[in-house]
Amino acid sequence: MAEHRAAAYMFAVAMVLGVLAAIPAAVQSIGVCYGVNGDGLPSASDVVELYKSNGITGMRVYTVNDNTLQALSGSNIGLILDTGNDQLPELAANATYAAAWVKANVQSHRRLTIKYIAVGNEVPGQGGNPRDILPAMKNIRNALVRAGLGGIKVSTAVNSAVTQGFPPSKGIFNASASHMPPIAQYLASTGAPLLANIYPYFSYKGDTSHITLDYALFSSTTTVVTDDNGNQYQNLFDALVDTMYSALESVGAKTVPIVVSESGWPSAGDGTVATMENAQMYNQNLINHVEKGTPKRPGDIETYIFAMFNENNKNEGEETEKHFGLFNPDQSPAYPIIFV
Ligand SMILES: *[C@@H]1O[C@H](CO)[C@@H](O)[C@H](O)[C@H]1NC(C)=O
Ligand SMILES: *[C@@H]1O[C@H](CO)[C@@H](O)[C@H](O)[C@H]1NC(C)=O
Repeated sequence: MAEHRAAAYMFAVAMVLGVLAAIPAAVQSIGVCYGVNGDGLPSASDVVELYKSNGITGMRVYTVNDNTLQALSGSNIGLILDTGNDQLPELAANATYAAAWVKANVQSHRRLTIKYIAVGNEVPGQGGNPRDILPAMKNIRNALVRAGLGGIKVSTAVNSAVTQGFPPSKGIFNASASHMPPIAQYLASTGAPLLANIYPYFSYKGDTSHITLDYALFSSTTTVVTDDNGNQYQNLFDALVDTMYSALESVGAKTVPIVVSESGWPSAGDGTVATMENAQMYNQNLINHVEKGTPKRPGDIETYIFAMFNENNKNEGEETEKHFGLFNPDQSPAYPIIFV
């Protein structure tokens, strides 16, 4: 009897420990995007070590090559692999080409933990033709399924420009983004998430007369927006994510979850709010926030911070593009961040 009780007690302890052990899983939801457009960046294997030593468990890889994939082999870092927008025309038009892409970057690297393939990033803003996204997604997915790798989810990364509407419950896909409804419905049919690049920084910069800095930085202490349905928003990140959820719902894709495939804040380059202090505040608040979820979808939001390194060779767009990094090329932190 006593033994039974002891066993039951041990079981209860195990359950409690199980629950405690589950707590760090919340930080599993934080990854960091790895871009390589900078001088003097560490080797791929040093980069992987830097992720590990900081407890960063996810990575988005924009430049997929053997060197990087080999460095990641066996690391257990959960990955988003980008195809690159330049690949879209061929991936869309040529199933053999898509199968070759999958063979080279997925099948040949069995010790990777690939979670998602991002077929296109912010098309057309960052290049590419929206018309190519869905056929390319289908060709990649068919190749994965044929290779017995259908568990890897195929998606595309979009930004808030594909949505419109306010408050968040009124979110829809904008009329020019006519490629989005069929993509959303395809994601629903395959059980894949939509990858969303969510930048309160750019929304704030685009409308400083209506958006407060506190709301953008997660530092408002009170409700800023009360939605028609009663949902209360204290930060812009949640409002942007929920606008995207409403857009998905509006086209019959309610079951599609959102993975935040980029979010961040620059630490220099705009002469106003791109400061070390604001970048640190945004990113630390983001890390602390994502396990809570949004008013519409409480619970963990898998999120990838943009980006690992300051990249001095990002010559397209604004000066701030070079200053989104959490780390300098010499691996020193750009500013202190606690990931776990
Ligand atoms: C399709 O891709 C394969 C593999 O890269 C290539 O050999 C073939 O020439 C391509 N077909 C066309 C029509 O471009
Ligand atoms: C609507 O979506 C299209 C396609 O993604 C984009 O190019 C355009 O800028 C968006 N319009 C607005 C007003 O954001």
